[in-house]
Amino acid sequence: MNRPNQGATSETFHINCVTDYSELKSIINSFERTGNLWNNIDSWLKEYTGIDRIFFKFIKHFDNYHVYKREKHIASILNRFSWFPTLLYNYDKKKLLIYKYCGIPLTKNNCPKDVIEQINKILNDLDSVNIQHNDIKNGELLVDKNGKIYLCDFGWGSINKQLDCGIGIWGHNKPKPCGQLSDKNVIKRLGIDKYI
Ligand SMILES: Nc1ncnc2c1ncn2[C@@H]1O[C@H](COP(=O)(O)OP(=O)(O)OP(=O)(O)O)[C@@H](O)[C@H]1O
Ligand SMILES: [Mg+2]
Repeated sequence: MNRPNQGATSETFHINCVTDYSELKSIINSFERTGNLWNNIDSWLKEYTGIDRIFFKFIKHFDNYHVYKREKHIASILNRFSWFPTLLYNYDKKKLLIYKYCGIPLTKNNCPKDVIEQINKILNDLDSVNIQHNDIKNGELLVDKNGKIYLCDFGWGSINKQLDCGIGIWGHNKPKPCGQLSDKNVIKRLGIDKYI
C-alpha cells in the first residue's frame, strides 16, 4: 500500500496488485478502525482481489458542502465515459469511494502526443451532460501507461452550473467557496500546451 495522502478534502491511497486478501483486510482495519466498514465491503473486496489496482478515497472535510454526495452523484453519470476513473464502490456511512486506479498526474515528462485532443474530448463529453468540474488542478489529470488521460475528483463539480447538482444538496445559486476554476481554459491555465 502507498502511504495515505492527505488532500484538502480527503485521505487517499491505492493498493497494488491485490492478491493477499488477509493483508488487505488488515490494511483497511488499521486505516479505519471504528465502525463496521469491513463487514460491509468484505464480500465486495473478495471479488476484486486479483485485479490490478484500486484507489480508495475517504472524504473527511468540507462536510457542510456535501462534497461526498456531490462526487458520488456525478460519478454515477460519468461512469459511462472511458476517461472517467470508474467508481467501483461507495460506502455512505464512512464517505468512502473506491475507484479504479488510473495512473499518475500528467506532467511534461509523461505527456502523450495527443494530449490536447484527449482533453478536448473530455471537455466535450462534460458539455454533453452539462457537467462542470470547476477545480481542475495539476493532480487531477492522470495518465496511464498507455498514454490515456483521465480526469478525477468531481467533489466540486456542478450540473447545469449549479453546485447542488439538482439533488437537493448544498450549493443552489451558491458560488464555490474556495474560488471557481474554469474548465474551458484548462489547457492554457495549466500550461499543457507547452508540454508538447
Ligand atoms: N482513480 C485514481 N487513480 C489514480 N490516482 C488518483 C485517482 N483519483 C485520484 N487520484 C490522485 O489522488 C489525488 C487526490 O485525489 P482527489 O483529488 O480526488 O482528492 P482531494 O482530497 O480532492 O485532493 P485535493 O483536495 O488535494 O485536490 C488526485 O489529485 C490524483 O492525483
Ligand atoms: Mg483533488
